Amino acid sequence: MTNLNDLSEQEIKQNLLEQYKNFDIQIFDILSSTNDFAKDLINSNKFTDGTTIIANTQTGGRGRFARTFFSPANTGIYFSAILEKSLPVKDVSLITLISATAVCRAITKLTNLNPQIKWINDIYLNNKKICGILVENICDFNNMKSKAIVSGIGINISTKDFPKDIQDKAGSIMCDKLSRNKLIAEIINNLFDLSKDVYSKKIIEEYKSLSLVLNKEITYTKDNKIYTATAIDINDTGNLIVMDDNNNISVLESEEISINFAEQNL
Ligand code: BTN
Repeated sequence: MTNLNDLSEQEIKQNLLEQYKNFDIQIFDILSSTNDFAKDLINSNKFTDGTTIIANTQTGGRGRFARTFFSPANTGIYFSAILEKSLPVKDVSLITLISATAVCRAITKLTNLNPQIKWINDIYLNNKKICGILVENICDFNNMKSKAIVSGIGINISTKDFPKDIQDKAGSIMCDKLSRNKLIAEIINNLFDLSKDVYSKKIIEEYKSLSLVLNKEITYTKDNKIYTATAIDINDTGNLIVMDDNNNISVLESEEISINFAEQNL
């Protein structure tokens, strides 16, 4: 693995837009999970909008479905940004769409590469997963809305030695010259810009234009059964609309889907 540049609050702030320069950026060498740290801050009211927790390595990085997220030192970025937003809990998944769009925009701007989004929260490059996003919220039970939302983002930049179980699926941007600080700042700029209007139709349109799955055959599991269908649309709440061979339509909310890359001939 090639070591990347050191994480630096100063360089991150230099690259943040004027309106975000006062964000509280906290960098740690090692944390269990930046999402867990961020959620503790929210629970103890020690956060402001934009508080961002960054770790050089995580010992317990988490993904969806209680999976681990491999987070070795010096070869990737692992961070959680806190958005102080009161959204109905059912709409929190829109922050996943926004985060994925922000990551793609930032990577393209800094590298000229064109990553794509595998619904709902994974970013792929050359058919390999280079980034995972875990959005979680702390609920205000007085109104059943979010008190604050954590967008946790992990990106493999120059990681090579992946554990066996993810070796075939995981990849890296493979760009040694890419500054981790600039990439984090660029993602924060886009994440908070896009979050100003969570319900904007333009965001869904942009998310769809970055989709790796639309018009492709996918498989998914529901109630312990495996289904095959074609992904035909993503609706305004971020659900994936699929159609099977008999033209039956189903709406997927958070199921894990797979694409058969070999058959798609990508
Ligand atoms: C997934 O692949 O399902 C999502 C992975 C999300 C990983 C990031 S790394 C920073 C933040 N802290 C965590 O524990 N998880 C997220």
